[in-house]
Amino acid sequence: MRFHLEASFRLSADACKAEAAVSDFFAKAGPILEKGAPEGQGAKVTEWKLAGNRIDLVIDSDRFVRAHDALLRLRRPLSELLGKQFRIGVRGLDVNKFEIEVESERGIEHKIPYVREIRFEGGRLYLSLDVGKSGTLGQAEIENRIPDRIISLLEDKLQKSYGGKTEHWELLWESAAREPKFIRDPTEEMQKAGWIKHGSSRGQWIYGPEATHVFRTFEKIVLAEIIEPLGYSEMIFPKLDTWDVWKKSGHAQGVYPEIYFVCPPKTRDPAFWEEVMDYYKVTHEVPLDLVKEKIDVPIGGMCYAQCPTFWGFLQGMTLPNAELPITVFDRSGTSHRYESGGIHGIERVDEFHRIEIVWLGTREQVLEQAEKLKVCYKHIFEDILELTWRTAWVTPWFMAQEGKTGLAEMSGAGTVDYEAVLPYNGNWIEFQNLSVNGEKYPKGFTVKAQSAESLWSGCSGVGLERWASAFLSQKGLDPANWPTAFRKHFGEMPKGIRFL
Ligand code: SER
Ligand code: ZN
Repeated sequence: MRFHLEASFRLSADACKAEAAVSDFFAKAGPILEKGAPEGQGAKVTEWKLAGNRIDLVIDSDRFVRAHDALLRLRRPLSELLGKQFRIGVRGLDVNKFEIEVESERGIEHKIPYVREIRFEGGRLYLSLDVGKSGTLGQAEIENRIPDRIISLLEDKLQKSYGGKTEHWELLWESAAREPKFIRDPTEEMQKAGWIKHGSSRGQWIYGPEATHVFRTFEKIVLAEIIEPLGYSEMIFPKLDTWDVWKKSGHAQGVYPEIYFVCPPKTRDPAFWEEVMDYYKVTHEVPLDLVKEKIDVPIGGMCYAQCPTFWGFLQGMTLPNAELPITVFDRSGTSHRYESGGIHGIERVDEFHRIEIVWLGTREQVLEQAEKLKVCYKHIFEDILELTWRTAWVTPWFMAQEGKTGLAEMSGAGTVDYEAVLPYNGNWIEFQNLSVNGEKYPKGFTVKAQSAESLWSGCSGVGLERWASAFLSQKGLDPANWPTAFRKHFGEMPKGIRFL
């Protein structure tokens, strides 16, 4: 990696009388420019020129001390020298040219902010950054480490395409294989039995009384076996996530292709919308092009991960030690994902129902809660639902949702997926997860503990459609084939809606 930076320090006055001192300064600047780099490496000022009230510089460097870092390192000692001896101030800096060379096996087609041109030649990417005009790379961007973010972005992109890192999956535990009571597709069977019907939207279902009662029974089991014994409190988390929430949760990095965007009207003045209403009244068609003009840019999207909006409750606060661990859950609404073409039955849907369990405390408390929850889940899947299931250590959900692969860097943090086999096609379906999210959320939303100890958190999503897919595909729709413990919770099958 090579950096070539041409920049100027702007001075408060003509500095010709400081020529000798400045010359001496650059002659001796080696240690500043090489600090932290291996012997013989770092940045070099390859040219400099005092031009009245400006010092023009050319800095060439390697990856050990990047040229823009070198420039910032020079500013203070230079200011001190000019200030003390000559009463001249360094007012700011201008970037005149910034070029970066990175080794790569391929080119990059996408536009990257602040990059004017990317050329791929002889195993290297040559980047010319956009400089010199407002809105381009200048002092503020250098100070905010924008060049470093460009490099990280490039590294991410290159690494991904090499297939170096993939989604992690490692079996942790597997139940005994239970003889399936059923080998058909439960979605099809439920449709035939009149338990569910397609909703009007993509990947959306209308659940009739029978299917709804199955979902509510799952909830009842979670309440009786987890929420009550472990002392979780119910809360209501908002179901519209703003960009601000997603910046803090990390979703703003990669969630765009999968969200349902939410746009408010430009105004709620009925006169502004009259044209739309009239068009509809006359044609019975909604004039979508006109609607498009009258709605504002999206303020965020519909609930996607369920726990991020909870953190607004704690944002900026310090929690007394005695409050910890905090254990809460939400089941107040749907989650929405724009799924890939592979939407299938109720197994993969755009609109789904989930109980989201969230806990936070010290690292030790959070890890301990995770273990308690795992014990409860195991009891439910083994003794109440009697599933054929397994658990796997996977790429943490919060990384996957940012578009990353691999594993979490904090030891103990990560996601366990719970999977069940679908006898009708032999595939395994992820029907819920359980994660220790490390410091990510408390940090992202600046939540602190009274003690100096850092806060950790965890969350676990119980997907009701996924539980239904797992359970009904293994046990079928006939209660006679259901495990006794489940039937006890289920009670009477409600009467469905019949048609002529
Ligand atoms: N928030 C977690 C997820 O979205 C658990 O539901 O996967
Ligand atoms: Zn969560």
